[in-house]
Amino acid sequence: MAKLGLRLKAIAKQVTFSGQPIWDCCCDHGYLGQYLLEQDACIQTGSVVNFVDCIADIIAQLNTRLSQITALQGRWQSHCIDVAKLPLAEQTSLSHTIIIAGVGGELTAKMVTALNQQFAKHKLEFILCPVHHEYEMRTALAQQGLRLFDEQLVKENGRFYEILRVGCYGQDEITPTGKKLWHRVGPIESQYLATKIKHYQRLGLGGQDTAGIISAYAVYLD
Ligand SMILES: C[S@@+](CC[C@H](N)C(=O)[O-])C[C@H]1O[C@@H](n2cnc3c(N)ncnc32)[C@H](O)[C@@H]1O
Repeated sequence: MAKLGLRLKAIAKQVTFSGQPIWDCCCDHGYLGQYLLEQDACIQTGSVVNFVDCIADIIAQLNTRLSQITALQGRWQSHCIDVAKLPLAEQTSLSHTIIIAGVGGELTAKMVTALNQQFAKHKLEFILCPVHHEYEMRTALAQQGLRLFDEQLVKENGRFYEILRVGCYGQDEITPTGKKLWHRVGPIESQYLATKIKHYQRLGLGGQDTAGIISAYAVYLD
């Protein structure tokens, strides 16, 4: 069984298995995709997990490791490609769950934009967990008409992570600071807000106009 930390476990929890393909993008070690493959719902629905990374050595090592696990045989594929070039047109399914975790928010937004533009007729659901630049990523996603299914905040090893599940059919708007994240502002949320505000204050001292962003986060402080 692949062992996951809090962040990857929270991402895995956002996945609904429906038999449609799942893409573990920027997969690196591939622990997330492997964990998904081991879930009963994944086995029962026959969802195929695709591992995607642009580094050839990473995919070669993953192929070696996963092909030694008999229970996973025939249930996964790997792709050494740029995430912006996922081969969705070659797939029989129009619905896809695309997970992008562990890269910067601006790169994450670029990947989502590229895929949405190429596959406008597909039903794409994205589960995103960027490293920093969440405000900028959220702004870019909202601008292209994406909507929110769910969002949450996770703290692991002293770092904070926002996890968003978005798609064209989400019920709620995507706001730049998040909304559901602040329904209950406990110690973790307060620490995260303070970190965010400090970050944009630093950028402000460097000459960037961050006053609006700072006030947008400060609204959620007590
Ligand atoms: C820090 S790891 C993230 C691993 C895992 N997703 C996680 O969240 O723990 C980032 C991975 O993204 C891959 N990567 C970065 N840019 C990429 C791109 N444009 N297309 C595919 N993979 C990319 C890197 O090779 C690296 O393995």
